[in-house]
Amino acid sequence: MDQAEAQKRAQKLRDLLDKYGYHYYVMDDPIVPDSEYDEKLQELVKLEQDFEELQTSDSPTQRIGGAPLDAFVKVQHEIPMMSLGNAFHDQDLRDFDRRVRQGLSESIDYVCELKIDGLAVSLTYENGRFVRGATRGDGTTGEDITSNLKTVGSIPLRLNEPVNLEVRGEVFMPKRSFERLNEQKEKAGESVFANPRNAAAGSLRQLDPKIAANRNLDIFLYAIGNDYEMKTQTHYEAIQYMKRLGFKTNPESKHCEDIEAVIEFVNSWVERRDELNYEIDGIVVKVNHLEQQEQLGFTAKSPRWAIAYKFPAEEKITTLEGIMLSVGRTGAVTPTAKLKPVQVAGTVVQRASLHNEDLIREKDIKIGDQVVIKKAGDIIPEVVRVLEELRDGSEEQFDMPSTCPACESELVHLEEEVALRCINPQCPAQIQEELIHFVSRNAMNIDGLGEKVIQQLFTHQLVSGIADLYKLEKDELLKLERMGEKSVQNLLSAIEVSKANSLEKLVFGLGIRFVGAKAARTLAEHFETMESLRRASRDDLLAIYEIGDKMADAIVRYFELPEANALLDELKELGLNMTYKGPKKQEAVSDTALSDKTVVLTGTLERVTRNEAKELIESLGGKVTGSVSKNTDVLVAGADAGSKLTKAEQLGIEIWDEDQFLDKTAT
Ligand code: IVH
Repeated sequence: MDQAEAQKRAQKLRDLLDKYGYHYYVMDDPIVPDSEYDEKLQELVKLEQDFEELQTSDSPTQRIGGAPLDAFVKVQHEIPMMSLGNAFHDQDLRDFDRRVRQGLSESIDYVCELKIDGLAVSLTYENGRFVRGATRGDGTTGEDITSNLKTVGSIPLRLNEPVNLEVRGEVFMPKRSFERLNEQKEKAGESVFANPRNAAAGSLRQLDPKIAANRNLDIFLYAIGNDYEMKTQTHYEAIQYMKRLGFKTNPESKHCEDIEAVIEFVNSWVERRDELNYEIDGIVVKVNHLEQQEQLGFTAKSPRWAIAYKFPAEEKITTLEGIMLSVGRTGAVTPTAKLKPVQVAGTVVQRASLHNEDLIREKDIKIGDQVVIKKAGDIIPEVVRVLEELRDGSEEQFDMPSTCPACESELVHLEEEVALRCINPQCPAQIQEELIHFVSRNAMNIDGLGEKVIQQLFTHQLVSGIADLYKLEKDELLKLERMGEKSVQNLLSAIEVSKANSLEKLVFGLGIRFVGAKAARTLAEHFETMESLRRASRDDLLAIYEIGDKMADAIVRYFELPEANALLDELKELGLNMTYKGPKKQEAVSDTALSDKTVVLTGTLERVTRNEAKELIESLGGKVTGSVSKNTDVLVAGADAGSKLTKAEQLGIEIWDEDQFLDKTAT
């Protein structure tokens, strides 16, 4: 076969394979036996091996999984991938509808979609070809997982039209595939995945695409990320358009005329959700008209035009086998229920916090009881109630001890608190918890100092407080269990490196009550040095917008403690950095060419990247949106601007070219 023939045959095979694949994966309705698909695929693989120049990045052969990566590359989302506000009851949906209607004068209709419990991804197409796929990440920056996503059969590598667009959807693992995968893993003696969601996430996070290729992942697409001005007026039409392009969309979506129809749809799924071959955790309700969506806009975290109704948490019955006590960082002694292991909402639960003695009394919990368990917010296990009718008299009442289970000093109730506290500053359990907090990621971030190592350091009396971490010596560490030359060296250098951390990490690490990582950052940004933070009065603290009464009091009280001051002096002596190294707080911007302006970027910018342009606009108090509407103030049009420019002209919106834009924003 010569090159030209091979080229023709390859093209033919790709067209056939795309068609077979579409019917198999997207329509769930195969038109040829699997063997036929496999044969054609093998033929194409061979052709591409023989004629390397025939290889293309959108060939169906890419679905088998290409070469492994070394690491995932970060991708900035052009339009952030936001999350949704939650509704738990019918009334929450009616409230949502009221808020929506308040913002708009016209009548509203909605689209309801199943909320697929998988992993949000963004897919980018250029000229109808799949060029990039990314995880949601923190919503602003995700990871490039293109080669893994190419292995998902229902993601088209070529669309039916040569369009440029970004679509969003949810990758998931069908329940059956999940069960099969776990069976295989069990047989191989490997640890199993807790639920299909974790299995899908784990598969996409593999650097070797061959692993993802074997995991039978699937996807439903539910939104077009950019270019809302395309050919449609409504979300429902946008979904139909996506279908025509070749995307797999969820067949259960429903157009609802009003909120009562939405509520009916939502309730109909509470019972039926188990019938599906994939897991859903709720229903997403979206305002249908795109123009109205745009008018409603977004809060800091989520769109005002959509909400997620979350199904009631799954409940299970199990035996409460015992109550254990733990002493926290602040000395609070917390009872925890030890449960007979039971599967709830996808994971095995064997503990649940009982919070305090009052709660145990209120719920009348006894050891040996049959109890109803659920996961609050589907994450944290909780004892809902006791099934008193199942008692046989052997259940035992639980009384909180009067002394600390770790140091045996007397426990007290502070002020009005329900929690019992150990107030011995030398209590080993508390110090250990303090240390665990001090080295944790958002605090000093010392790698290699996990809970186990800290326990060892403590039992061997190598540390009895935070400052001792910085006095550890190599010889002592080498004597510990499972500590070789290399891990000791790594640990010591991680400790050394942490000395240079910016102030906020140390402030958070101190574990001052109510001061979380975010507040620690605010404090560090504001005071810049530990010295000025130490000297801050209650009023100085309250002058900071984010700091309230409770936190201000706790901070003042902390810095009055002689032990705290001694610790800080010692840490300084040991060489820890005591200054803020992050960016300075932005002064509020006002009166710039762009303050409060809504700007749309289109076409190719030559002198700055899209992201730089966006940052520039935001730094001047403007906002960047993806599509042109009557709310747009300025369109910045780069080279080859297309339909957005036309639309802006029609709407009489101010238009700047790149030079004008850079002129006006020059500072
Ligand atoms: S729309 C602006 N539709 O739910 C937000 N999300 O909290 C647009 N999800 O991270 C999201 N099914 O991963 C939307 N039909 C659906 C969805 C859906 C699942 C997930 C998505 C997102 C989370 C929202």
